Amino acid sequence: MTTTIRIGIIGAGMAGQAHAFGYRNASMARDLGDIDVQLHTIADPNLELAQSVAHRYGFANAVADIEAFLANPEIDAVSVALPNHLHAEVLPKVIASGKHLFAEKPIGRTREEAGRLADLAEACTAVTGVGFSFRRLPGLAALAQAVQNGAVGKVHTVRAWYNADYAVDPSGALSWRYSQEQSGGGALLDIGAHAIDAAQFVVGPVSRVLNSTLRTVITERPKPAAGAIGHGGATTEERGPVTNDDVALLTVEFDGGAVGQITLSRIASGVPNSLGVEAFGSNGHAVFDSISAGEFHLFESGVASAAFNGPRRIFTGPEHPYFNDVAAMPGAGVGTGYAEAFVAEIQEFLRCVRDGSPMDTNFKTAVSMMSVVGAALEAAESNTPVDVDSRQHA
Ligand SMILES: NC(=O)c1ccc[n+]([C@@H]2O[C@H](COP(=O)([O-])OP(=O)(O)OC[C@H]3O[C@@H](n4cnc5c(N)ncnc54)[C@H](O)[C@@H]3O)[C@@H](O)[C@H]2O)c1
Repeated sequence: MTTTIRIGIIGAGMAGQAHAFGYRNASMARDLGDIDVQLHTIADPNLELAQSVAHRYGFANAVADIEAFLANPEIDAVSVALPNHLHAEVLPKVIASGKHLFAEKPIGRTREEAGRLADLAEACTAVTGVGFSFRRLPGLAALAQAVQNGAVGKVHTVRAWYNADYAVDPSGALSWRYSQEQSGGGALLDIGAHAIDAAQFVVGPVSRVLNSTLRTVITERPKPAAGAIGHGGATTEERGPVTNDDVALLTVEFDGGAVGQITLSRIASGVPNSLGVEAFGSNGHAVFDSISAGEFHLFESGVASAAFNGPRRIFTGPEHPYFNDVAAMPGAGVGTGYAEAFVAEIQEFLRCVRDGSPMDTNFKTAVSMMSVVGAALEAAESNTPVDVDSRQHA
């Protein structure tokens, strides 16, 4: 029996386009052969952008009116990729519509906002997933499995990072990302969401933020011209203040007893986009860096004589999670990257819609990440350690 799933996307910016790419390629997974994915509508108040994205990614329609979009019974499943301050307004409407929902991270600007949205998601029967896309990189997913299976022993020290350079140019537009009010956090949340989630994915929940330092290095920027999206966009003569962090440095403690450092920067000159996790344990270590997304490194002490034992560089392939569903060719080393992570997360969402099962990255996962962000903001403000509210963890 074929399940038809008619897709709509709200928000045609950088992330909305990545979702469109994911839906367009999702049915390449063999186990999704019984799904008919219909690319129905792109919705964005910027109609010209919606039309261009619909055309480029093969969606049948483009609309500017989000309310009319939500009332359309022809749409079964919806991705939401709007600026963070609109999530609290739009996500409840999608939930109320009864349509399946795949929301971009973060689902709110604060842990309280995210918590309220998670309560709504809990009470509905549709699938409510959240896009923690880095988890779908085969190398990171395989590393998480290895650590959880005890390959490195008991983890005691963790390093996680997200370094990016999208904000390094002071003449870059002052988009919603640079407003604490509209975003909920600078590097700490925009990219920190992924690094914190990745650390928790590999090692388990963070229980305490011991120390948190936030810095705004570029304190003002030119305001964006209408229609600017993503990290680029034209600017105006007028300037405005940056009200959130360019750099965030956290020291944390995990439930399992490990300590860790999480380094986040959106002004890491010369490092365009690198998320990584390194875990040291009683029996070895494991490390992944998205800049070389097709591989990870593992050291297990005692597997060979001391003279020949060292970290192994493992190239991802058909044996690793997600690889077979997204790789262009079925052989290790052909490489997968961030584009394929979006395909894999959308495939997972569609499987859940077909099967009526909950998604592994959901509103609770998002609240768990936001709880760490909330504790980090509090720790930076008070200059004291702050416990992560354990009730907020999934
Ligand atoms: N998973 C990832 O790797 C990833 C990457 C980028 C962004 N994101 C997330 O996706 C969401 C969207 O981010 P983005 O980079 O696509 O943003 P963006 O600025 O590129 O696009 C936002 C879109 O929302 C539309 N929009 C609707 N109402 C608006 C309003 N009132 N103000 C401004 N824009 C409005 C804009 O027209 C634009 O098309 C964010 O929550 C972000 O955290 C996730």
